[in-house]
Amino acid sequence: MKVTPEELQSIARLVNDLCGIVLDSGKGYLIESRLGSVARESGCQSFSELYYKARYENNPGLREKIIDAITTNETLFFRDTSPFEVLQHKVLPELIDAKSKTPFARRIRIWSAACSTGQEPYSISMILHELIGNLTGWDIQILATDISDAAVRQASLGIYGAHEIQRGMKMNLLDKCFVRDGQNFHAKDHLRGLIAFRKINLLQPLTAVGTFDIIFCRNVAIYFDSRTRRDLFLRLSDRLTSDGYLFVGSTESLSDIDPRFLPQHYCRAVYYQPNKLRPALCATT
Ligand SMILES: C[S@@+](CC[C@H](N)C(=O)[O-])C[C@H]1O[C@@H](n2cnc3c(N)ncnc32)[C@H](O)[C@@H]1O
Repeated sequence: MKVTPEELQSIARLVNDLCGIVLDSGKGYLIESRLGSVARESGCQSFSELYYKARYENNPGLREKIIDAITTNETLFFRDTSPFEVLQHKVLPELIDAKSKTPFARRIRIWSAACSTGQEPYSISMILHELIGNLTGWDIQILATDISDAAVRQASLGIYGAHEIQRGMKMNLLDKCFVRDGQNFHAKDHLRGLIAFRKINLLQPLTAVGTFDIIFCRNVAIYFDSRTRRDLFLRLSDRLTSDGYLFVGSTESLSDIDPRFLPQHYCRAVYYQPNKLRPALCATT
């Protein structure tokens, strides 16, 4: 099914409204390849029909199919390596140390926002188990969220094929953390037990998710326009504790967004913390 320039514009507006992803005029091939089958399966003869059905009919199922098809779910275990090294050797030891000294429950909250099929939260869970070993006395939760139903479903199953396992998995952790079942590998219960999976659209208000010691929001804002991206990271900064840590993708930087983000460099990685010295004027947006 071919997309006309007018259809491209209206589908791009629809996709942008649904999930923030920007499809410019060069993305006709993406619409044809990813949404052609959604259109056909929904009985549409053209992309205009798909647009009208999704926009004007009360059809949340169709909107979900469009989101599942248009989102790029590329991910892998321990993606980019260095953020996970920082997590293991700097951020979590600091956090564990600080929490151990408080008289309160030793509570750690981590959010993997836009977690795709789950390799990111499972990587975090593996590191936590390696570091803490016995989790008795700890109240730890990783919230793993994505806008795509299909991605969240796969993430919560925790079942990966050999090809997915080969992409980034540390072989010394494989037997400890996964059980082999034919061609597939199932995440063990202790790994999944730390993770709660939910569907969350990052364009929606985020206040209900709570606050977090660590947020991973990597490789999703690269698909947004600069205003949506800025708005997202400002709202995420409100979800971070005052000493919290924010990780973005290796090609992303928050230096142009707001002085409230203080970049911290450790080995080859950069993460961000709330800038306590920022001018009072920047405190609100
Ligand atoms: C390229 S993957 C990144 C996965 C993982 N964070 C990583 O870096 O490996 C981008 C993910 O963002 C999700 N996504 C896109 N728009 C979103 C939105 N508005 N809200 C939440 N997730 C979104 C997609 O479904 C996709 O799974």
